[in-house]
Amino acid sequence: MELRLLRSPVDPAFLAMTFPAYRHLLQQEVAPKLLGESGVPTVQGVAVGGFAGPKPVALALLALPLVQGEAAELLSVYVVPEFRRQGWGRRLVLAAEAVVRHAGYSQLVTLWTEGSIGSSWWQRVAQECGWELPQRRTLSVRFTAEQALRFPWLDRLPVREGCEIVPLTSVTPEELEALKASQQEKPWIAEDLVPWRYLEQGFEERTSLALRSTEGIMGWVINHALSPEWLRFTCSFIRKDWGRRGRILPLFSRSIHLMVEAGFTQASFVAPVRHATMVQFVERHLAPWAAQARWTWASRKVLCEAPPQAA
Ligand SMILES: CC(C)(COP(=O)(O)OP(=O)(O)OC[C@H]1O[C@@H](n2cnc3c(N)ncnc32)[C@H](O)[C@@H]1OP(=O)(O)O)[C@@H](O)C(=O)NCCC(=O)NCCS
Repeated sequence: MELRLLRSPVDPAFLAMTFPAYRHLLQQEVAPKLLGESGVPTVQGVAVGGFAGPKPVALALLALPLVQGEAAELLSVYVVPEFRRQGWGRRLVLAAEAVVRHAGYSQLVTLWTEGSIGSSWWQRVAQECGWELPQRRTLSVRFTAEQALRFPWLDRLPVREGCEIVPLTSVTPEELEALKASQQEKPWIAEDLVPWRYLEQGFEERTSLALRSTEGIMGWVINHALSPEWLRFTCSFIRKDWGRRGRILPLFSRSIHLMVEAGFTQASFVAPVRHATMVQFVERHLAPWAAQARWTWASRKVLCEAPPQAA
């Protein structure tokens, strides 16, 4: 097998060697990291292909960030069955590292889900290739509409007095401005949970909600449709002093009923480890009744200075 940096146009046989959401990056153009998703970074796709003669037999796909200082990401590694267990997977990883180093990036990361195909291979190869110990990144759950309707907390708590749950689409520009101003004055919303990013970029309108009080907007549940059947609960937040004793649960309860009405049959919720209360929420209120709860992990390698003729 020979490993080469791929140039566009790429042999279509490579398409089946990575995940559908990443296939567009094989065009080697600047594009959103995930196809069809809002709020994802724009990256440059780069690929190393393995050839047996003219035949494509292996692929490592990378995303190079456009923002300085960010890490490049190894998105997938694939070797056709006939060539497995001969060291080609490991060589692809080393070739990917060389490409990234040569392109001037100092870090390479990869994200993976525990128990997924290839995760035991990856843990072994990452250790052999000098990657840092993996770190937990998110707790991710998947549940069906039927499972959601059986969550024991569903509809149990009333909405806090003086508040109402309203569609996110009904949040007015003035309310949004007031939120932005209060955040600027004294930040109280985690940067990645501020709602305006989603209000500008789009969200699933039938199921996304806000909690309106006389003092303004106090919380939100913002969702995205990953497909006509699949809803992702992307961003949820409630002001700390209002969120005690499960007061975000009425928002989730309403959103779950709306999800079922809208015909979604599956849902996912991802809690990043940096939001400890969100992880707790998932562990206590979702995971015990969900179809699947899994940690995702991140591995990282700090790359040294580029050697003169790498890749
Ligand atoms: C995972 C995959 C890329 C491994 O490719 P490969 O060419 O067989 O890997 P290597 O030969 O370089 O394996 C390196 C080591 O890991 C071991 N290994 C290979 N597959 C393994 C597996 N599934 N589980 C545990 N160890 C594995 C090998 O035996 C080898 O160890 P050795 O040097 O002691 O023999 C290949 O099986 C594949 O394409 N799978 C489907 C896609 C996938 O899961 N990709 C990874 C996530 S994107």
